[in-house]
Amino acid sequence: MASLKVLGIAGSPRRGGNTDMLLAEVMRGAASKGAEVKTVVLDKLKITPCQHCDACLKKGECKIKDDMQTIYRELEQADVIVLASPIQFTGVTAQMKAMIDRFQSRWARKYILKIPPLGDNRKRKGFFISVGGRKVADLFNPALVMIKTVFRVLDIAYAGELLFSGIDEKGAIAKHADALQQAFLAGQKLVED
Ligand SMILES: Cc1cc2nc3c(=O)[nH]c(=O)nc-3n(C[C@H](O)[C@H](O)[C@H](O)COP(=O)(O)O)c2cc1C
Repeated sequence: MASLKVLGIAGSPRRGGNTDMLLAEVMRGAASKGAEVKTVVLDKLKITPCQHCDACLKKGECKIKDDMQTIYRELEQADVIVLASPIQFTGVTAQMKAMIDRFQSRWARKYILKIPPLGDNRKRKGFFISVGGRKVADLFNPALVMIKTVFRVLDIAYAGELLFSGIDEKGAIAKHADALQQAFLAGQKLVED
């Protein structure tokens, strides 16, 4: 049987920061169970924000040709998609939001053109990783609503999340009792179930 393909999408502008560390552990866990893993760093890509030109309503294709083409292609090839973003001003990072808005073409495929948003009917799973500096109730709720919506629009089954509040300095996640271990185990579980 072909190995599962796991795509990690890193949304933080801080390379090697807290969400990057968690994402790396999820990917290491998945790889330890034989999955093929690949991580894309959004901050390295040029992704123009959606212009709401509505061109995608006709063919389900975005007319802006930039690095988003890489994301579309990688998503179509993946079985498991792991989105990682810290909380910034209660939501996901600008890098991740720009990518999400460019899924409007896939929304058009699904709801206007009635075709599969990712080109086929493969069963895909989605997972969310986030951290926030503050320690308040409901810290992740706005981001969770958005991420679950994205996965639903793309026909990706929501498979869970790892959320850590009160984590602010770069690398602080390593001092958490078992966050990185939880991430490794989550990565294993994602490709085992
Ligand atoms: C522009 C900006 C906005 C932020 N807004 C929030 C916020 O609204 N709530 C919060 O808990 N933390 C906020 N933070 C803190 C980050 O979530 C925190 O530092 C996190 O650990 C960064 O993760 P990273 O290392 O993966 O980038 C913000 C940080 C930045 C730079």
